[in-house]
Amino acid sequence: MSDAGDRAVPDPLRGAAVPEATAAIEAVDLEVGYGHLPVLRGLSMAVRPGEIVSLLGANGAGKTTTLLALAGVLSPISGSVLMSGRPAPVGLHRRAAAGLALICEDRSVFMGLTCRENLRLGRGSIEDSLELMPDLEPLLDRKVGLMSGGEQQMLTLARALAGRPSVLLADELTLGLAPLIVARLLACLRTAADRGVGVLIVEERAKRALQVSDRVCVLRRGEIVMEGTAVEMSSRVAEIEASYLSETADAAVSGPRSIEQ
Ligand SMILES: Nc1ncnc2c1ncn2[C@@H]1O[C@H](COP(=O)(O)OP(=O)(O)OP(=O)(O)O)[C@@H](O)[C@H]1O
Ligand SMILES: [Mg+2]
Repeated sequence: MSDAGDRAVPDPLRGAAVPEATAAIEAVDLEVGYGHLPVLRGLSMAVRPGEIVSLLGANGAGKTTTLLALAGVLSPISGSVLMSGRPAPVGLHRRAAAGLALICEDRSVFMGLTCRENLRLGRGSIEDSLELMPDLEPLLDRKVGLMSGGEQQMLTLARALAGRPSVLLADELTLGLAPLIVARLLACLRTAADRGVGVLIVEERAKRALQVSDRVCVLRRGEIVMEGTAVEMSSRVAEIEASYLSETADAAVSGPRSIEQ
């Protein structure tokens, strides 16, 4: 942790002041895997309050594993996760209570309930959700199963942010969605970050990641191989994409994941 100095920003969860340099969430030398097979190998990264960080990498690089480890779904083999400079509580539920929100690829909405009922199941108020995502207002009484994929994703994001987390982790938030919806979701992320949330997103496309993020981390085979501000990394798009391509080529030689590329 670097010198905190005198300056402090409000902690969105507790209303207390935390040192400005303290990361909202931080992985320290994290080794995580499935069974005895390590996927993340000594991964260290941090997301500060008020910034959007994009995690990029080829299929199978370990992006989802990183989010699940930060969220407390997966326990580390070694290393640790800190929230606001303190050891993160064990398990997703405790981490959620401490201010972490996780959006998985599956959206986790209840299809048989209405949009309003789904929002009620969140940690925040319906009013806060609508303030963040006004497009949901005319959809409040619609069954979620009848909403489009993009509308469901707006619901998921608004519900997560209405709970006023200090950290938001989102996997493939915009994958396959129409440009208008993508713009709404990304604007909402920026609003959240401007209010002090530390946001980590897994983004498929390097160019979009550079447009929407403050910083970018590139993961390859469970290790961060490139990291920098969006401005620094914008001149390295070709290098980032080449990193994906080389991983895809490796996978084509080594196993069946190449089928998914
Ligand atoms: N439940 C699991 N059991 C065993 N291995 C797994 C499991 N989930 C993921 N893996 C393996 O861990 C590695 C990293 O997977 P992960 O899902 O984190 O990658 P990713 O970067 O999110 O990929 P994608 O872009 O395809 O979503 C892969 O080799 C994958 O096969
Ligand atoms: Mg994934």
